Amino acid sequence: MSYVGYVPLLKQYLSKTLPPDHVPSVLEVGLDRGTTFVPLAVHLLRSRPRFMLVGVDIALQEQLLLTLRNLDATEEQLVYALEENSLSILPRMVQSNTKFDLVLIDGDHNYHTVSEELKHVEALTFSHSVVVVDDYDGRWSTRDLWYADRPGYEGSKLATAPVETEKHGVKAAVDGWLADNPGWELHKLLPGEPVVLTRRGVFTFDPVAPPASGQTAVSVEEWLQAPADEARK
Ligand SMILES: C[S@@+](CC[C@H](N)C(=O)[O-])C[C@H]1O[C@@H](n2cnc3c(N)ncnc32)[C@H](O)[C@@H]1O
Repeated sequence: MSYVGYVPLLKQYLSKTLPPDHVPSVLEVGLDRGTTFVPLAVHLLRSRPRFMLVGVDIALQEQLLLTLRNLDATEEQLVYALEENSLSILPRMVQSNTKFDLVLIDGDHNYHTVSEELKHVEALTFSHSVVVVDDYDGRWSTRDLWYADRPGYEGSKLATAPVETEKHGVKAAVDGWLADNPGWELHKLLPGEPVVLTRRGVFTFDPVAPPASGQTAVSVEEWLQAPADEARK
């Protein structure tokens, strides 16, 4: 899925909650069409002179790369898209001692992958960091999805080959990890599929108004009747 309802909260965290002198660092696992990655990139570009946004996907989409190439980032506004499997790249990020303020996990939705990804979360985060795991609820909560089996991924060298496990689904992976990591807690901020994980007692989100809807996709009639402004002349 994607984190649609969470994006305003994530933006607020990046531009307001993190101190102004901090250089935000964000990791998103699983980019797909960039429904989350692009708005976060644009928000960071507007609000932070320095940041690092890293996305990882086993199949980077050309349209997304074209969009990212034309963002007009400065040399200190770093946006990276890496074509890799999370299970290979996360240990290398740990080895290089990279840490993120925000980690978004939305790659392969199965017990094995999410369990393996979560093993690196402690090392990849600061004490204040926020981790969002998609698909905790919903279709892949108690069932496994393997991208290797999905149309479009036939022959993918980067997709993880399915692994037999006793447990299944994203929820069991997260709940198991929480049981092994009692210093962390789970927050369910909005109805929907994602959950938020933080170390106990560091939770910092304030409620944010959802963005005005219906402003982008309008009929020609609505557009013609919209208030005339300078842009139209
Ligand atoms: C549900 S989509 C991500 C949606 C995206 N987060 C959003 O908000 O729009 C899942 C993506 O994860 C990628 N993926 C699957 N397994 C992966 C893995 N092990 N490592 C990295 N990416 C993976 C797929 O190629 C797919 O693009």
